[in-house]
Amino acid sequence: MDSGIFVTSALRMSRYSIAGGAAEYPLGANCTNAVQCAESSHRLNFTPAPAGMNHVKLSAFGTKFAGESGIVGLMDDLSSALDDNPDMIFMGGGNPGRVPAVEDAFRQRLEDILADPAQRHNLFGVYQSPQGDRAFRQQVAGFLNRQFDWGLSADNVTISNGSQSAFFVLYNMFAGVMPDGSQRSIHLPLAPEYIGYGDIGLSDHFFTATRPGIELLGDHLFKYHVDFSHLESAENIGALCVSRPTNPTGNVLTDEEMTHLDTIARARDIPLIVDGAYGLPFPGIVFTEATPHWNDNTILSLSLSKLGLPGARTGILVAREDIIRAFTNANTIVSLACGNLGPALASALFDSGEILSLSRNHIEPYYRERSQQTVTWFREQLGDLPYHIHKPEGAIFLWLWFEDLPITSQQLYQRLKQRGVLVVPGQNFFVGLDDDWPHKHQCIRVSYASDADTVRRGVGIIADEVRRAYTG
Ligand SMILES: Cc1ncc(COP(=O)(O)O)c(C=O)c1O
Repeated sequence: MDSGIFVTSALRMSRYSIAGGAAEYPLGANCTNAVQCAESSHRLNFTPAPAGMNHVKLSAFGTKFAGESGIVGLMDDLSSALDDNPDMIFMGGGNPGRVPAVEDAFRQRLEDILADPAQRHNLFGVYQSPQGDRAFRQQVAGFLNRQFDWGLSADNVTISNGSQSAFFVLYNMFAGVMPDGSQRSIHLPLAPEYIGYGDIGLSDHFFTATRPGIELLGDHLFKYHVDFSHLESAENIGALCVSRPTNPTGNVLTDEEMTHLDTIARARDIPLIVDGAYGLPFPGIVFTEATPHWNDNTILSLSLSKLGLPGARTGILVAREDIIRAFTNANTIVSLACGNLGPALASALFDSGEILSLSRNHIEPYYRERSQQTVTWFREQLGDLPYHIHKPEGAIFLWLWFEDLPITSQQLYQRLKQRGVLVVPGQNFFVGLDDDWPHKHQCIRVSYASDADTVRRGVGIIADEVRRAYTG
């Protein structure tokens, strides 16, 4: 084979309709229809290209990004499982739950916009400035200042087309090959971390990570902590990054851990990136005491997705002005402009503070209740098996650790798929941790965002399959 790659699946080179035309794109996810994929449950509509159109020559970039990778393989598998069995109990994705009060608020706002020709034109008919509408950025800055007195202006805020795409730009700004030829990594102080970071780097060995300390809390609960004794020795780091609450575990790093990470980042003159997709101050899916963290060495990433707007693709970065300028320049090359829908739907909520009341009165209680129910159901079903559940402190997942499981988490995932339940096998989340720690193969991530009945049925099947694995 020459330097191009041979794409084995005809579906991988697919005909993807865009605005009435049709263009050929090598697609990461082997989705055959409108399907849901693993992390954000992307829905793509396209039809497969005719067979025989599957030999393409790709650059090094193309080979890395259009070829096989961990997350792409997993998404392929999850989406084909959904195609094969549309009744699958889907506990694998990052889709937010449906919270009626929140859906109503956004529906009402959209109707108001559509009824007003000027607002409607602003929504559909204009390219937004690359950094995002100044008035919206002022509203976000004003909201954060009223809550936390962070002294922000509109110049500390930029908008992106979802936080995932912001991470692509941001991480590659700080890590990879440096101008002097040296190499830097994005360091994850607390593995396991968000699977979506895994393949984002333009160069190899892009992530490094520190193995966590494990605290057993009794009653089948445990909690990961940052192991600062090992973190201190990590070298050649371009930035530290944590998700808070953490996807996949539902861990919320303590205020002390955040202060310590901040001190380390400052001492090394690198930024601390905090991914607040589930966190503070919105959507506020946090069940424990935690203070939102920001200062001029912190890059805070927020998103409207887990508020209930993953389809609007709106991410918000809050950082020092020079970092925002650098990000915006890079993001302009990638995206040209950011989308108008998210800012249009959410802007009034920032001014009125309703974004907080929706989070506190509707979103957080929805997930808190669901997490407590799901833990109770697992306790009832798993009985005295050697299982541990990460203390659910936030986000929309439970992280289960089956100690000394006789099969791997990948095998458990496959067996559950056969039984009609989709979870995400845990080994995929140990981004940057290239060791042979058995723990990596003993965990699964389970979303509890769906309706209670679905989650309960899923828990029953998971528990049954785990019991079979232990008892042979
Ligand atoms: C921790 C975390 N960060 C970032 C994202 C990306 O979110 P979005 O691109 O929808 O803003 C997700 C999505 O599931 C996530 O779980």
